[in-house]
Parts: sequence; C-alpha cells; structure tokens
Amino acid sequence: MEQRVAPIGRLREVTVIAAAAGIGAPDPRCAEGPEHLLASGLVERIAQRGHVAVHGATVRARSTRGRTRLAVHRTFCAELAHETNAAVKRGAIPLVLGGDHCCAVGTWQGVAEALGGSLGLIWIDAHLDSHTLGTSPSGMLHGMPLAELLGVVEGSHRPPALATVAPRNVCVLGARSYEAEEVALLAELGVRVIDMDEIEAHGLDRAFGEALEIATGGTGGFGITLDLDALDPADAPGVNLPVGGGGIGLAALRKVLAERGLDPRLAALEIVEFNPHRDRDARTERAVTSIVDVIFGAAAPSPVERERFFSAHNYDPLPAVLVRGSGSHVWDDVGRRYIDMMSAYSAVSHGHCHPRLVAALTRQASTLAVTSRAYFSDRLPAFIERLCGLTDMDMALPANTGLEAVEAALKVARKWAYEVKGVPDDCAEIISCEGNFHGRSIAIISMSSEAQYRQGFGPLPTGFRQVPYGDARALAAAITPNTAAFLVEPIQGERGIVLPPPGYLAQCARICRDNNVLFIADEVQTGLGRTGRFLACEHEDVHPDGLVLGKALGGGLLPVSAFLARADVLGVLRPGDHGSTFGGNPLAAAVALEALEIIVDEQLCERSARLGAELLRELRRIGSPLIRDVRGRGLFIGVELDPAAVTAHEAALVFLAHGILTKDTHETVIRFAPPLNIDRDTLDEALVRIRAAFAELDAKHLSAPRKRPRAPA
Ligand SMILES: Cc1ncc(COP(=O)(O)O)c(C=O)c1O
Repeated sequence: MEQRVAPIGRLREVTVIAAAAGIGAPDPRCAEGPEHLLASGLVERIAQRGHVAVHGATVRARSTRGRTRLAVHRTFCAELAHETNAAVKRGAIPLVLGGDHCCAVGTWQGVAEALGGSLGLIWIDAHLDSHTLGTSPSGMLHGMPLAELLGVVEGSHRPPALATVAPRNVCVLGARSYEAEEVALLAELGVRVIDMDEIEAHGLDRAFGEALEIATGGTGGFGITLDLDALDPADAPGVNLPVGGGGIGLAALRKVLAERGLDPRLAALEIVEFNPHRDRDARTERAVTSIVDVIFGAAAPSPVERERFFSAHNYDPLPAVLVRGSGSHVWDDVGRRYIDMMSAYSAVSHGHCHPRLVAALTRQASTLAVTSRAYFSDRLPAFIERLCGLTDMDMALPANTGLEAVEAALKVARKWAYEVKGVPDDCAEIISCEGNFHGRSIAIISMSSEAQYRQGFGPLPTGFRQVPYGDARALAAAITPNTAAFLVEPIQGERGIVLPPPGYLAQCARICRDNNVLFIADEVQTGLGRTGRFLACEHEDVHPDGLVLGKALGGGLLPVSAFLARADVLGVLRPGDHGSTFGGNPLAAAVALEALEIIVDEQLCERSARLGAELLRELRRIGSPLIRDVRGRGLFIGVELDPAAVTAHEAALVFLAHGILTKDTHETVIRFAPPLNIDRDTLDEALVRIRAAFAELDAKHLSAPRKRPRAPA
C-alpha cells in the first residue's frame, strides 16, 4: 500500500547543537560563532516557522594540560556524536552550529550510527577538506574531516566498516580552493565533486539536484554540511578562511534550499566556520539566519498541500489561497487582489464582510447564538415574519444549507400528498427536471440526471420522475394522480446558467394548479435578487406553492436556508416530524434578517437588473470566436465556450491569472455572478480584465490547430 506522508509531518523537531570549538582552525575565536548565532535568536526563528525547536546542547572542546589536540578533538567529537545520535533517534533534525569544520567528524558519526550506517552527505565547501595529517600543508584539522568520514586517516585506507559515509553517497559542491592530493584521493574513492566552474556552467539547481540524488541513493537519510566559505565572500565575509570571490551566491543557495532543502529525507544539517570576529557588519550572521529561514520556512507545508492531504478530494479548487475579502474583492496569501465574479455560487451576494452583517453577527454572537428549537427565541420570529412578507408566503421552515431546505420540501410535499391530496400511502411522486441541481444528499441525487452524482451511491430512494427542462408539455404528460410536486429551478444554475423558454414557468405553474400538484421553486441560487427580481419566478409573475431559499440568505457569513410554503402545505408538519439543531438559531436569524433588510435598503434587486443588463451587453460585445453563447438574467450570467477550442477549466485558470475569480461549470461554461452591490468602477475593471483574459485565450487557441471539429450549433 502506498505510504501517505502527511505534509504536517514535515514540520519537524529541530535540535540546535552548538559545537563550540575552534581547535581545528587557525583562528580559535570561531569557537564563539555557535553561541553568537544562538544569541541572535536562531532557535526562536525556527520555532516561529511552526517547528518544535530547542537548543539541545552546547558541546565544548576541553583542552587540558598534557592532552594532545588530536585527543581533545576525539573527545569533543565523541560528545557531539552522542548528541546528534540521540536527536536523530528521537526523530529530530540536529542543526549543528560548528566553530570549525572538524566538528563534522562528530556530527556525522552520530547521525550515521542512528541511520544504521547508511548516510548520504552533501558537502558544500570552498575546500575539499580531504587532507590527512600526512598530506596537510597547514596541519589544521579543519582541512581533514571529509577524508576521515570516508575512512581515510593519515594516508592509509581504514577498513571500510569504519568509514562513516560511503564515497558513492557523498557529493561535494562548490569547491574552488584545494590541493592535488585531495583531488586525487576523492577521485580514487569515487566521490563526485561539482566544483565552482561546473556550477557556474550549469547552475546550482542542477548541481544540487545531482547531489541530492547521490546523497539519497539507497541511503537511510542524508545530511547537508555547509562551510560558509563556500559562499561568495561578498555575502559571507565572516569566515575562518576566506577564499577569493566567485563562490556560491547567497540568493542562489537560498533558492535551492527553499525548494529542496527540507526534503523529508534530510537527517541533519550542519553550518560551520562562522567567525563573528571577522563579521564586521553582521553580514555573515544575516546570511546564516536567512539560510535557516529558507530551509525551515520551506518546511511549513502550504495550505494547498495540507488541504489536499487532510481534506476529502470532493472538490478540485482553483489554485488561489484566499485570505481576506471586502466587498467585491478578495486577496490571496501573496497579496494579490482579485475581483470576485463568482460570489461563492451566489452565497456572497452582499459582498464580502458587509459591515452591517458583520455588526449584526458580532452583536448577536455576543448576546445569544444557539439555543436549539427546544425553546422559543426572540430572533427567529422577526426573521421568518420578514421573509414570509417579502416572498408572500404563509410559513417558513428554517434550515441551514440549501440541500436541507430541499429535503424539507420533498418531505413536506409527500406528507401533503398523503394528508391533503389523498395519494395512497408510499405512492407519492415528485417530478424534477433533467439537468437539475438541488444538492447532493441521497434523496436529492435520486432526482439527478448527472451520472457522477448517482454512481456508486445506490441504492437510491424511489418516487422521483424526470422531465426535460423547458418542456411544459412533458410535465403535463408526466403528471399522474399520485404526483405530489414539481420541483424546478427558474434558471438552471449548476447546469451552466440555462434559461428556460419564455413563459415556461407560468405554463408549469398553471399545469400544476390544474392537476392539484405543488409547484415548488428551488431559488437557492436564483433568489434574493440574483436575477434582478427578489425571486426569479417574479419574471413570469409566478407565485409558487413552495419556495426553497438558501445561499445569500446567510449574507455570506453563515449557512441559512428555508423552505417556505402556504399554510395548508407546511401545516402538515407536527412536532417531531422534522427538525434541525441549528436551523433558525438566533445568530443565523439575526444575520439573515439583516441580509434581507440590506437587499431592500441597497436596492440590490434593481442593481442586479441594471448592472446585469450592462454586463451581459459588454460580454456579448467581446466577440471572441471562443465564445458560443452569452446568456443570463440580472447578475447571473454564463458564458459558453467552444469546447473544441478551449475548456472552461482552462479559461477559469486564465481568468484567475488576470485577477478574476470565476468557475467552470460542466466543462463549457464559465459564470459571472459578482456580488449584487459591486460598484460601477469595479465592474468596469472586471470587464477590462475579462477582455484581456479572452485576448490571451484567443491568441493561444486560435492560432493553434483545433482539437476536434466544431460540434454543430
Ligand atoms: C438550485 C440549488 N439548490 C440547492 C443547492 C444546494 O445548496 P447547498 O450547497 O447549500 O446545500 C444548490 C447549490 O448550489 C443550488 O444551486
């Protein structure tokens, strides 16, 4: 079974270990480097990026009279190895801050042992550090650690078992100052060295990619050891042994480390040779912090990664991480501003975070929010009374989401059929339309003609029939004495903003009345001003027997929905027949009441009619050959694209790149349904962006050969 690696798992425990020794370098003051970096707040910076970060230990070289430098070094490395070993075994990443590079022997021995002897190493250094006591011109230990880790001491090969790391898993990056003996040794062992010339020829990202492959090929994990003298001295002058210019640029290193540094296989990290006494303007200290920042900053998984990992994949969102909204604008996590031409499928008709709605919400939230319907509340009556008044309905059943209100409508219609109409028990039928969308509960998908909504979810409830949308005669033919209700969207939104022929709703309403069948309008998406009237049914002077509302009823802040009907219809429900813990709670009622008042006060229906007509006209004027149809009513507009040339999904991505939020529907249609209170300037700006997006799509697709012949219109 494929292993699921949680992105959250990349948030690691980081144990910072100060290897505060300078015995291997000519300037022993580098021993102060690690503590200097600790004092600059390095641990806290890592913690701020979401990791658990601790200062694990400070290991010092203990020189005592009579002990040789080599003996002191051995003890120091053994102690350091103990610390890194314990950290890796705990599952933490040791970050070793070393005074000079000879600490690497201890760091990597401890890590290798914890990994069961299978360590890979990326050695970033201006030097090759592959001298032995026998070959070193200076005799300084910091020029020897790589040779020792490869099992080579004083010129003789150690038995392979004593090598800490296999040569085939070591890659040296950025060398630009070395002696022939070192080159010969590494070549003999087969260690890949990518020197500065090669990096300058092909780029650091390619070199780092190769190094990563070498260090991870068959190993249990890998480490990165960074000698700061590998960097260009202009970026990091405060090192023990500066090497003339031409080193790795800090920006380039940061980029590769940001992209690949915190690979899940990274076992440990080491940064060495910082000498604060040579770091006059703190440039090297800043270089170290910025490197640590990018490595551990990259660790925090993106919201996209986390959502993809932890959320069921029942949506395929467009790649924008939205963090803020105001009116008709939203902003993403990198500060880009978008014009919202989608309004969360009409739920945000009032615009984002309308101040009156936010005020109503916070006022009520700090007064009384949820009571359940076990008691009366002072908020619910005001809301449903106003809602019944605005829709000319007798009663309302409050719920939360649209599908809950649709479910309530189905239940009520059946009960009405048995108790009022006299349909025999369990024989009631409900007629819906092909291409409908009323939600995705088990009962509702039973009415769907969309194969994907139904497949895999059976057995499905029965008692539903379908007729073609827009065909009133088909409805008349489908009605039987057992028909309880006809459920219809005045405009089919999710199907792609499909308008029925003029007069259809009125004809259907008449047919229903003549046959004692309830005409129930699902205005979850079309209602509350979206199409330019308070209800879309009003365009044909139709007054439904039952009405489903949702989405914008919650003012874009809360899920609030309702099923409304005549008293003889909703009156069939008795206590216990139906219910919802949250339906009609005081908080929802307060917000929904304010949402209704705003529609009236801001004349959102009239705005929708006026601006919608203008938007429709301007979209039709674009005249892109990719557009097959532009249709809609009010600010509820669909643009149908030629599927032979471009998919609606690709178009939505291009719109996103132009700062327009829209969404593809059924592969061919993109919708434009901005908040109803969008202002003129913003709408004009949206049109400029939409035209630019179409120009880009035209340029791309009209020069390229067609994917398949255009389907007959
Ligand atoms: C017409 C219609 N009815 C019902 C629903 C379901 O609403 P919800 O997603 O709030 O359950 C939708 C949602 O898009 C809809 O468009």
